[in-house]
Amino acid sequence: MRVLVTGGAGYIGSHVSAELIRQGDDVIVYDNLYQGHAAAVDPQAIFVQGDLADRAALRAVFETHDIDAVMHFASYTLVGESWEKPFLYLRDNVVNGLNLMETAVKYGVKRFVLSSTANLFDNPERMPIDETERIVPGSPYGESKNLLERLLLWMDRVYGMKYAALRYFNACGCVPPLGEDHAPETHLIPIILQVALGQRDHLVIFGDDYPTPDGTCIRDYIHVRDLASAHILALRALDQGSRTYNLGTGNGYSIREILDVARAVTGHPIPAIVGDRRPGDPAILIAGSDRIGRELGWEPQYSDLHHIIQSAWDWHRRHPDGYGD
Ligand SMILES: NC(=O)c1ccc[n+]([C@@H]2O[C@H](COP(=O)([O-])OP(=O)(O)OC[C@H]3O[C@@H](n4cnc5c(N)ncnc54)[C@H](O)[C@@H]3O)[C@@H](O)[C@H]2O)c1
Repeated sequence: MRVLVTGGAGYIGSHVSAELIRQGDDVIVYDNLYQGHAAAVDPQAIFVQGDLADRAALRAVFETHDIDAVMHFASYTLVGESWEKPFLYLRDNVVNGLNLMETAVKYGVKRFVLSSTANLFDNPERMPIDETERIVPGSPYGESKNLLERLLLWMDRVYGMKYAALRYFNACGCVPPLGEDHAPETHLIPIILQVALGQRDHLVIFGDDYPTPDGTCIRDYIHVRDLASAHILALRALDQGSRTYNLGTGNGYSIREILDVARAVTGHPIPAIVGDRRPGDPAILIAGSDRIGRELGWEPQYSDLHHIIQSAWDWHRRHPDGYGD
């Protein structure tokens, strides 16, 4: 298949692109490098530097390349920022996605995979959170993904474009030679590893009085390699219809558990101090991913916490300045 990967120079998109290429697909990466890195684009991919707001540039990509499927990773991605700049999310994320959908439809593309998020589920009623949970977006960011999911429903109903909406919980880990390099970094594991590298003095734990065994928040961490396999399985199943999956391991780790494993892997004491709770942080978020297991036979294979942290540490230790751009 010839797959257009928006945001393919970013963390998850670059890993998925590399796996597509490994499986024999052709990849065209479309990324404005706002957060992405040219060095993260697989040398076998075609790289087009462009913005999703630039509809002419987008049309040119579809005109030039005979695209069979779209995987849409490009997005503003920060929950906190979305409270400060809601229009960036509620307008730009949504309009950019709509530009992409409209162009894909115009060029007859029938397969679309969307990066969605666990932030669709604020204060969930049941744990683990499966696809039947009521959608209550937790931020303008979460709402932007909800709107994109809704728009895809109409693309299917009106144009027969089949889609997969994949709601990730916490993506982590690395597959060489690719890594995770966000600026600013907001994800727990890379932040912990920055402390181990001496780039930060300590980790701030946002609250240790949650109703969990050690008082710190529990989240579901999924290795990016397992995310990549879920994307590709979902893509290949689209001819049988649209689908929505929550992607996680069904197990959670607390912040203190992650710290302990990171200390063991890095051999560094990684000092941590306890700060205030962050508003809106639920105590526990764990994904129920039975549906994709049942329908596509997907099972996480690389999401053991030790492996996640070891793979991330291997990359960060070798790339203390990230991709160096
Ligand atoms: N990282 C996670 O744990 C996580 C969890 C849930 C959902 N997601 C979603 O997964 C996707 C990928 O996340 P990531 O962590 O790899 O993020 P990332 O920031 O590393 O990658 C996003 C890429 O999109 C590009 N981009 C952004 N706006 C663009 C635009 N207007 N035009 C062209 N390119 C643009 C950026 O340059 C970047 O390379 C996002 O949609 C995010 O919302 C991520």
